[in-house]
Amino acid sequence: MPARMIGTGSALPKKAFGNKELEKLVDTTDEWIKSRTGIENRYIAVEESTTSMAVEAAKRAMEDAGVGAEELDLIIVGTISGDMCFPSTACQVQSAILATNATAFDINAACAGFLFGLTIAEAYMKAGMAQTALVIGAETLSKMMDWNDRSTCVLFGDGAGAAVIKKEETGIEGIVQGSDGARGGALVCKNRPVNNPFVHNGFLTDYTKMDGQAVYKFAVQTVPRAIEEVLDKTGVKAEEIKYFLLHQANIRIIESVARKLNQPISKFPANLQECGNISAGSVPILLDFVNKSGKLVRGDKIVLAGFGAGLTWGAAVLTW
Ligand code: COA
Repeated sequence: MPARMIGTGSALPKKAFGNKELEKLVDTTDEWIKSRTGIENRYIAVEESTTSMAVEAAKRAMEDAGVGAEELDLIIVGTISGDMCFPSTACQVQSAILATNATAFDINAACAGFLFGLTIAEAYMKAGMAQTALVIGAETLSKMMDWNDRSTCVLFGDGAGAAVIKKEETGIEGIVQGSDGARGGALVCKNRPVNNPFVHNGFLTDYTKMDGQAVYKFAVQTVPRAIEEVLDKTGVKAEEIKYFLLHQANIRIIESVARKLNQPISKFPANLQECGNISAGSVPILLDFVNKSGKLVRGDKIVLAGFGAGLTWGAAVLTW
């Protein structure tokens, strides 16, 4: 595979919002949230936006990679919570970091957004269409929550993660991805209704609605299957993987995946306790936490896996 990840970065809002503080807002308890999900805290954008966090994460990833903005020829942002319908978040990032030689666009694959972005960047490199790419997952999910709905608002947080991908002989060993639109009703946030000279549906927007148990079942069935598929495809054994970096939705989902793969939970670092579920931001933020803590050395094999609304999923094997 012709691409390697050479740098990571992340950015979180300043405002921490712990479970105890959340107890004052909705009918919930720290104990309920922790025991059902593992989440203890999340960060909420007050001064930040999806674009400002994406820009910050991008700058940190470029610094980590030692890559200048003019070297970038591709910028992909996975997001479901851009600040504008258009221009895309990716084009706004391009403008902010002065990456004048890049093609920039967003993709909507929800919590699998970073994995889908990685797949596209790698395919561009394979096709000879890019040499140096920035792949970002950035979200401000707090604006898409009904803050009276305790079944959803306790789960999510805001933030952005980014990685620089370079055309090289090895690195991304293999990726699988998939989607099942027929089950998409399990996790939904509607956009603007039709409004034109012939139809007037008002301007109400909708908030995130989720069938939690359906999403849970989907995740514990699909994620281990996708990881096994990508391991088979690349000929890498689960035992050779140093870390499995999974989308940070629920610690019980992560524990179930570890059991199904017959791998120790110590190989599954998590930051959902601190950050909650940041959709497309979760995987690259966790990856940056692990990278910056010095736990990755060149040659290590890791798995990244994302899953979410769509329904969508993706898994990748990387040699660091
Ligand atoms: N605090 C207190 N009680 C809550 C609550 C909260 N924040 N949210 C829901 N409850 C209540 C429900 O009202 C219900 O009460 P009832 O039995 O009186 O009706 C009870 O808790 C059980 O609700 P249920 O939805 O069955 O809980 P659950 O065990 O399925 O856990 C999730 C809910 C959301 C934590 C769990 O389904 C889950 O994690 N699903 C996957 C979600 C996910 O990962 N989404 C993102 C994918 S990218």
